[in-house]
Amino acid sequence: MSIALVVGASRGIGRELVRQLFERGDQVIGTVRKPDPTLAELGARIIDGVDVTDDIAANHLADVIADTPPDLVIHNAGILESDHFESISLDAMRRQFEVNTLGPLRIIRALVPVLPAGARIGIVSSRVGSIDDNGSGNNYGYRVSKTAVNMVGKNLSHDLRGRGIAIALLHPGLVATRMTGGRGIDAADAARGLIERMDALDLATSGSFWHAEGYPLPW
Ligand SMILES: NC(=O)c1ccc[n+]([C@@H]2O[C@H](COP(=O)([O-])OP(=O)(O)OC[C@H]3O[C@@H](n4cnc5c(N)ncnc54)[C@H](OP(=O)(O)O)[C@@H]3O)[C@@H](O)[C@H]2O)c1
Repeated sequence: MSIALVVGASRGIGRELVRQLFERGDQVIGTVRKPDPTLAELGARIIDGVDVTDDIAANHLADVIADTPPDLVIHNAGILESDHFESISLDAMRRQFEVNTLGPLRIIRALVPVLPAGARIGIVSSRVGSIDDNGSGNNYGYRVSKTAVNMVGKNLSHDLRGRGIAIALLHPGLVATRMTGGRGIDAADAARGLIERMDALDLATSGSFWHAEGYPLPW
């Protein structure tokens, strides 16, 4: 049994991660930005006010979970603002970088001092952040933010190894959530795969990029 922390648990994949982790017997902490009483019905401890763009919120999260340090952390929060070459907005790119790239770094950096040796961290990245796999273009802001978070995760794998903490970059698949307008596989299937990847993660595989279905992805 783990103590699991899901950052960005209000809906979509994050909510499903909370539900399944609790259902299998883990003690679960979920973070949201806005209070949501329906999440507590899933059985998790919910911490609200956690905006991953906010340094104070990140440090506050570390303080309030210090009494129950998680050994499994999934940073799921993310945003997509679609664009194409003619519609690129540098402001939208900055927003996505702030949430998708700096968000996980900010949260993980704040949490590391309270994480036990042996902890496992997953960052929900995206296959569209893969340079090798980019066969179509578009979505400059989202792609760049996910490519950059892959580097954040790889760097962290080196810097946290000495503390016995392993980290994985994870792609959930194309999942039917608000982000995709309901296109893709069921969030329950994606969450199941992500949890399997987290269960398989150790220091030997730390710093790699995985599809939830269980195969490694190219950078
Ligand atoms: N769906 C897919 O096909 C797909 C594919 C590849 C990767 N992903 C990644 O999977 C993750 C989850 O996506 P999803 O499909 O479940 O999308 P979603 O339904 O739009 O959920 C996004 C989650 O991120 C949270 N969030 C957004 N901005 C935040 C912030 N500044 N601080 C804290 N939380 C914030 C949202 O909380 P609020 O309710 O407060 O907005 C929500 O819980 C994302 O990282 C996404 O990039 C998704």
